[in-house]
Amino acid sequence: MLTHHYTVNNQKLSKQDLDTCSKLLKKGELVAFPTETVYGLGANALDPFAISKIFVVKNRPMDNPLILHVDSIEMAKKYVTDFPPIALKLATIFWPGPLTLVLNKNELVPDEATANLLTVAIRIPSHPVAISLISACGFPLAAPSANLSGKPSTTEVKHVQDDLEGLVPAIIDGGKSTFGIESTVLDLTSKIPTILRPGSTSIRQLEMVLPKVIFKDKSTSKEIAKSPGMKYTHYSPKASVIIVKGSPQNVCKKINEISDEQTGILCIKEHAHLYKKGQVIVLGSKKEPNQLASNLFESLRMFDKLKVTKILAEYPEYGELKEAVVNRLEKASGGNIIIT
Ligand code: TXA
Ligand code: MG
Repeated sequence: MLTHHYTVNNQKLSKQDLDTCSKLLKKGELVAFPTETVYGLGANALDPFAISKIFVVKNRPMDNPLILHVDSIEMAKKYVTDFPPIALKLATIFWPGPLTLVLNKNELVPDEATANLLTVAIRIPSHPVAISLISACGFPLAAPSANLSGKPSTTEVKHVQDDLEGLVPAIIDGGKSTFGIESTVLDLTSKIPTILRPGSTSIRQLEMVLPKVIFKDKSTSKEIAKSPGMKYTHYSPKASVIIVKGSPQNVCKKINEISDEQTGILCIKEHAHLYKKGQVIVLGSKKEPNQLASNLFESLRMFDKLKVTKILAEYPEYGELKEAVVNRLEKASGGNIIIT
């Protein structure tokens, strides 16, 4: 398949390109597009055949449900049995933005989009191109992250091309994703709102609005997670990832002990000079912890290009989005952690 590329200027697609891309979606084709979190691989969420293409192209397990991207609260309300006051409150505060709400779905949502669950995950993305695309279509876009299943999510168009060139008819280049980590998935169908996946809306932001919110990090546990996607291997570069956790001195000593020239080392800027061997990639500075989130997937993909044999990663527990960053890195490591 020939992949066509479209470029965003000043956060906007030209009218002609928007028209072409929305026509593709209306015909049941897939379009990769930018969001503020990561790139998405969009399909008409109301068309089971279009949805099935997402699963084929990504090689995504069929029991992993998709997020519906809408352009307004009105559009979100169309696809749920009830939009409770708590959803309205959260949507008013956090939408458009990186918060996905899990609500009870109605019959308009095909079972293919929700992997036969009775619930549906919905959000309004804040990227203007994503919103204009949904509005031009007039239907919600089902969109997982635009990567092959198991690989790190895509935060720049070059990653999308690495994974999907030739497999999809259109890729929209919107530059680097602002957050770089996916949305927070919050289940509002349980008694107490429950975070199923930590993400770019921080737990502290939610705690400021909700009287009670549950977050049990199951990323490394064998327990079946309620968010089905969380049980699969995820975000994995080619080389295996080992997290090293402990005091900075111990972590540095351990990494120097077990690394060689072919080892990839993922660390914060403040520690980069301490590593004597291996190929060091700086995730960012602990003084600007949002960099750690926005650079994570890019860094994991860079190790593939460097052809390292293993990756030793410092435990990056800094800043507002620390649970989300740690969760992604733990998933990338398959729970492989050295505590020193
Ligand atoms: O930021 C994001 O959320 C990005 C952009 C493109 O919007 N999308 C994204 O989609 O990360 P995906 O498919 O890679 O991850 C969706 C997550 C999975 O963990 C999935 O299991 C969960 O949301 N999910 C979707 N529908 C659900 C539902 N009805 N109940 C529980 N979890 C659900
Ligand atoms: Mg994903």
